[in-house]
Amino acid sequence: MKLHIRQLERQNRKHRRQAAEILLENPEFWPAAEIARSVVNTLLAPNRICLCAHDENGDVVGIVGGLPDYDGIVWEMHPLVVKKSHQGRGIGRRLVKALEKEAASRGALTVILGTDDLSSSTSLSDVNLFTNTGDKISNVVCRGRHPYVFFRKCGYKVIGVIPDANGTGKPDILMGKSIAKRGGKTSLTTLKGGKSG
Ligand SMILES: CC(C)(COP(=O)(O)OP(=O)(O)OC[C@H]1O[C@@H](n2cnc3c(N)ncnc32)[C@H](O)[C@@H]1OP(=O)(O)O)[C@@H](O)C(=O)NCCC(=O)NCCS
Repeated sequence: MKLHIRQLERQNRKHRRQAAEILLENPEFWPAAEIARSVVNTLLAPNRICLCAHDENGDVVGIVGGLPDYDGIVWEMHPLVVKKSHQGRGIGRRLVKALEKEAASRGALTVILGTDDLSSSTSLSDVNLFTNTGDKISNVVCRGRHPYVFFRKCGYKVIGVIPDANGTGKPDILMGKSIAKRGGKTSLTTLKGGKSG
């Protein structure tokens, strides 16, 4: 499938509407049209990233956003959504790569994200994450289908948890990836703790 990824343009109302409609396909995260529209509009601020994947007809079939933190050294990826009818074709992976490339061009070293476990899909749900937190993170397993697996395939690692973020036993799983260039003096392999991977 031919796919084009480009910045969402503020003046393109059709693409903004299509992007909001894709968010609305996930009412557990974006339960109303005005919320979805407001998320899209917020992403159009000049210091944010808002990339859309377009199919061969030019229609929006996926959207990824980025928000700078720590003076732009860290970028949070949010949201990332692919139209349900187009999932499983590599679009999500390409949007992640495009976001990383754009964040890197703006000086980012790290991309982070949070992925909620609302459905007891991982071993980080339904447990007390205030005890042995590091062990639980190191030994995380996925019991069902969950975006955590998708992000792991994109090179992200679990770097923390927000216990009970969505109610008792329903954490937000924090993941991150280094997008720093390798080989320089600040390469992760030169830092205490060994190899990046
Ligand atoms: C998560 C999401 C963005 C993935 O997009 P996608 O275009 O379907 O993903 P891709 O086709 O690029 O998949 C890449 C790989 O991840 C796997 N994968 C994708 N979604 C997955 C999921 N929910 N659970 C487990 N594995 C998944 C694919 O099987 C594929 O594996 P492979 O390379 O071994 O074949 C998409 O499912 C989505 O929009 N979900 C709803 C919103 C959401 O949960 N966003 C993340 C919020 S934190």
